[in-house]
Amino acid sequence: MLRTHNCGELRLNHVSQDVELCGWVQKSRDLGGMTFIDLRDRYGITQLAFNMDSNPELSGVARKLGREFVIKVVGTVKERENKNLQIPTGEIEIIVKTIEVLNESITPPFTIEEQTDGGDDLRMKYRYLDLRRSSVRSNLQLRHKVAQQTRIYLDTKDFIEVETPVLIKSTPEGARDFVVPSRMNPGEFYALPQSPQTFKQLLMVSGFDRYYQIVKCFRDEDLRADRQPEFTQIDCEMSFVEQEDVLNMFEGLVKHLFITVKGIDISSLPRITYDEAMKYYGSDKPDTRFDMKFVEMNEVVKGKNFKVFDEAELVVAICAKGCADYTRKQLDELTDFVKRPQIGATGLVYARINVDGSIKSSVDKFYDETALKQWAEKCNAQPGDLILILAGNKDKTRKALCELRLEMGSRLGLRDKNTFSCLWVVDFPLLEFNEEEGRYFAMHHPFTSPKPEDIHLLNDASSLGKVRANAYDMVINGVEVGGGSVRIYDKKLQSRMFEVLGFSAAEAQKQFGFLLDAFQYGAPPHAGIAFGFDRLCSLFGGADSIRDFIAFPKNNSGRDVMIDAPSTIDEKQLKELNVAVIK
Ligand code: AMO
Repeated sequence: MLRTHNCGELRLNHVSQDVELCGWVQKSRDLGGMTFIDLRDRYGITQLAFNMDSNPELSGVARKLGREFVIKVVGTVKERENKNLQIPTGEIEIIVKTIEVLNESITPPFTIEEQTDGGDDLRMKYRYLDLRRSSVRSNLQLRHKVAQQTRIYLDTKDFIEVETPVLIKSTPEGARDFVVPSRMNPGEFYALPQSPQTFKQLLMVSGFDRYYQIVKCFRDEDLRADRQPEFTQIDCEMSFVEQEDVLNMFEGLVKHLFITVKGIDISSLPRITYDEAMKYYGSDKPDTRFDMKFVEMNEVVKGKNFKVFDEAELVVAICAKGCADYTRKQLDELTDFVKRPQIGATGLVYARINVDGSIKSSVDKFYDETALKQWAEKCNAQPGDLILILAGNKDKTRKALCELRLEMGSRLGLRDKNTFSCLWVVDFPLLEFNEEEGRYFAMHHPFTSPKPEDIHLLNDASSLGKVRANAYDMVINGVEVGGGSVRIYDKKLQSRMFEVLGFSAAEAQKQFGFLLDAFQYGAPPHAGIAFGFDRLCSLFGGADSIRDFIAFPKNNSGRDVMIDAPSTIDEKQLKELNVAVIK
């Protein structure tokens, strides 16, 4: 070892010891008689001290060290006169006897300190330098801990980690595939897995019984803060189980992670159905850190000649506690918010329940005090509260009110990053209709089992939308952190499912023949789930973006600006691959 200790290790009890430290020069301060250097490594920062009077030569060397030089020092630990109690090593310093420059550094493009002067783009380009900063590094340490604890939990539950291939054939997860041309098979392509879905099901046919994998998945989809083109799943599958068993097993995993990583004991996860989630929150991933549930108002608002409400399929409200004193300006802001094209509401109706109990609405022309009292009662609104109402097409209005609810939650400080609210959303629809394509798609994936009591509905084209699935999502603070389902293991039912999805028998055989064939050799009942590992880590870390928890992430255009990928390849390589670039 080049060192006896690391830069985060030394304390008062080491005083007088001779030590050897290695690290990077973070900062040096020349105070005339004394020169101080902050030496940094992964573990922390230790102050090095050089006295001009007692060792002018060495002080001269120290003064010439540039930022990010890699050095080794030998010296003696001494109690500091001016202690810095903000850092664990702040009570000591090293009186340096020798310095060895292990490597020089050119001036870094930004300061490698917590408060850096580097903008986002610059830090992405020099990600390896950004990773020297302790906040960025600690995110990856948290990620490591979540992975370790996941393995510990699943190992005690008899899960086996099995690696599945990365060069595969398209998996039907619904996003676009990333494809890789095959040199040895001209004109043919591999696809990178959107998930190991079909492989984990095959492993169940093979009798592995309990499988997991912390695995890279690839999806060519539009990027957002919680989406990366390559991301990691904790992918799991179990045999001889029902939905209840899977929910319990993975509720156990999440509880284990919360307690071991965050020290938080979370209670049992409540379950709500997809229908309830849509009705009360307008979303299948509700943020339940706060209440503010939707109240459907149709029966108390219709028939008063207010056209907007009379013609609406759904009139739906939320009650914002203590917001009756919102100013005109604040209400206009909310109206503008819901009218933004991304949200798409046509307007916002409000009613203030004043502290004296009187009610004032933006549609007083149509609704008298008695009618408004009914609104308040329906919303369980108290004096001081503000009722906000949207109306229109059911699905769109729910979606818009969901955004408004989240906005109000944020404004009222109800979405604290250190508060966690977890739940299961169950009973998803099996199928969703795609207007553009004029056909049904699997809401989860084509291997998801319908609820046994709904299977008969698959025989009638008019009732396909009503079939519920044995599918479930885990939601934490409004983020879908995991999703899975009980699988179809009966070849006939699987064939019917493909038929409903518009695959001919020949097409189904071509794309999924390997799975259908495998199902003929004794497929056990099985079910599983996959967690978005990056999303779990960013939630634990209290961050909005999963990027901060990925060592080398892509930017919003899917580019790695550090290595400059994607990039063109030369003609020779293209020819070898039999790929022509269309310009
Ligand atoms: P699903 O498609 O729901 O299910 O994915 C599982 C979880 O993966 C996370 N996730 C993502 N995270 C970051 N970036 C992305 N682009 C991204 N896409 C998805 C989400 C999601 O809940 N094979 C099934 C699972 C199963 O049925 O067992 C699957 O992949 O947190």
